[in-house]
Amino acid sequence: MGIIDGKAISLRIREELKEKVSALKKRKISPCLAVIMIGDDPASAIYVRNKIKACEDTGIKSLSYHFDADVEEKQVEKLIDSLNCDDSVHGILVQVPLPRKFNEKALLARIDVSKDVDGFSAYNIGQLALGNDGFKSCTPYGVIKLLEYSNVDIAGKNAVVIGRSNTVGKPMALMLLEKNATVTICHSKTRDLKNITSNADILIAAIGKAHFVTADMVKEGAVVIDVGINKLDGKTVGDVCFDEVSKKASLITPVPGGVGPMTITMLLFNTLKSAESR
Ligand code: GUN
Repeated sequence: MGIIDGKAISLRIREELKEKVSALKKRKISPCLAVIMIGDDPASAIYVRNKIKACEDTGIKSLSYHFDADVEEKQVEKLIDSLNCDDSVHGILVQVPLPRKFNEKALLARIDVSKDVDGFSAYNIGQLALGNDGFKSCTPYGVIKLLEYSNVDIAGKNAVVIGRSNTVGKPMALMLLEKNATVTICHSKTRDLKNITSNADILIAAIGKAHFVTADMVKEGAVVIDVGINKLDGKTVGDVCFDEVSKKASLITPVPGGVGPMTITMLLFNTLKSAESR
């Protein structure tokens, strides 16, 4: 069994990004990401802080906007509109989940698709579905990069994605299909899940349930990617029961230190891509 070291791969990619950022700055283009947070969800606050720190470390400028949970939606709309028009801003991100009173879909849809570095918009998901260029959602894109850096051949493999969220499961399946895998998406209504996952050469767990995937669900020699970030007895754990599954997998990502660091790295990648295309 080998462990896919997401932290190390992420650092390698960030070093390459740093050089590209320097080169752009020499051409007087300074990549810039605007991060909008509403309310004070503790997990979101940590994610936002990590995103801003990662920008600083890579030489990408960041603009941080923090609104109280009782802010008028109109005020956030005004900010997004002005960032959309600002040529010095290359990426705009609204940290989700938003407090319940907000129309999350409408606010996300307000971001200009040319600055949608999260890759959440209907346009960018549509581009992915059509096999066209666009911003790819950061977490599944990070998974593809992990597989590529680990020399995992994707073409022709049985890839099974557990989870069908718009941010991970669906774009993940599209990206694996783009790489010529035979893809199955499983979800809460899937019958005989174990029978399907046991056939997976590449198994992606994106369910959001601690230790959901157990050894009996995994084929000997499978590559197992754990997208989950869950709290269990005060510890951060994934969707995969690492201790038992790692004995059967040929390659596996740990939690923390697997997919997690790649999400922010691909956000930096997309911000740079946006700046380069201007
Ligand atoms: N909340 C959790 N992950 C993400 C992410 O990748 N982007 C945004 N905008 N919000 C998130």
